[in-house]
Amino acid sequence: MDCLKEVAERLSRSRNAVALTGAGISVESGIPDFRSPGGLWSRYDPLEYGHIASFRRNPGKVWRMILEMYRLVDAARPNPAHHALAQLEKRGILKAVVTQNVDSLHQMAGSERVIEFHGHGRTLRCETCGARYPRERASFDVMPPECGCGGVLRPDFVFFGEGIPPKAHHEAVAVTERADVFLVIGTSAAVAPASYLPMLAKSSGAYLVEINPEPTDLTCRLTDCHIAERAGVALPAVLEAMGIYAESRTL
Ligand code: APR
Repeated sequence: MDCLKEVAERLSRSRNAVALTGAGISVESGIPDFRSPGGLWSRYDPLEYGHIASFRRNPGKVWRMILEMYRLVDAARPNPAHHALAQLEKRGILKAVVTQNVDSLHQMAGSERVIEFHGHGRTLRCETCGARYPRERASFDVMPPECGCGGVLRPDFVFFGEGIPPKAHHEAVAVTERADVFLVIGTSAAVAPASYLPMLAKSSGAYLVEINPEPTDLTCRLTDCHIAERAGVALPAVLEAMGIYAESRTL
C-alpha cells in the first residue's frame, strides 16, 4: 500500500472527493461480484440472463436468478469499507458515492448522498402500466411476479441494453466533474457508461485512486495510486492514516 499515505493526505485536504463503487466493495459482505472467478457471470451467461431482451423473452427464468441474488443481498450487512465511506461523508470530505450496486448497503452504512447509477433492488415496476411496488409486497409464488393489471413485474435496476436512469446519470457526471479526489473502489470498470466516469474525473483534474486487489484497464493508463488490497482493509487503513477512527460496526 505504497501510496496510501499520499491518498490520506490528499483526502485530508479535500472537500470534494467522490467515490465510484462496484460489486467488489460488497464482496466482504458476502455478495459475490460479477466477473471474478466464481462471480455471477461465471455461473450465468450475461447475455442469457443480463440483457433486457432475455428478460422480455423469458422473465420467469431471469427472475429465478434475481431471487438468488436477493437472498444474498437480504442477508448482507455493510462492511468496514461501506462504513469508512459514510464516515468520510460525515466529515465533509466525501461529497457523493456513485454506485453501480443495487444492494443499498451504502445507505445502510449511513451514506446519504448515494447516486444509484444502475438503479436499485428495493422496488419492482410493471412492464405494462409502470406501477411500482416495494419488493416485500410482491408475491413470488407465481413466476414471473405480476402486477394487478396482469403485466409482468421487473426489478427497478437496469439490464444490459437499457439506458442509465437520466437523473442518476446527470448527477453522477456533475459530481465527477467537480471531484478533486476520485476513488474507484471494487469495480472492473468494464461496463460503460460507468467506466467513463474515472476518465471524466481525471480529465477534470482529479487525483485518481483505485482500491482493488486486482489491476484493471484503468490501472496503468489513468490511476495515480492503486491500493492493491480488499476495500474492507484498505479504506479503514486510509482513515487511520488520516487520524480518523474507522467505525466498522454493523447495523
Ligand atoms: N475489495 C475491492 N475490490 C474487490 C474485492 C474487494 N474485497 N473483491 C473483488 N474486487 C474487485 C475485483 O477484482 C473486480 O475488479 O471488484 C471488481 C468487481 O468487478 P465486476 O465483477 O466486473 O463488478 P462491477 O465492476 O461492479 O460490474 C459493473 O456490470 O454486470 C454488470 O450491472 C452489473 O453493475 C454491474 C456492472
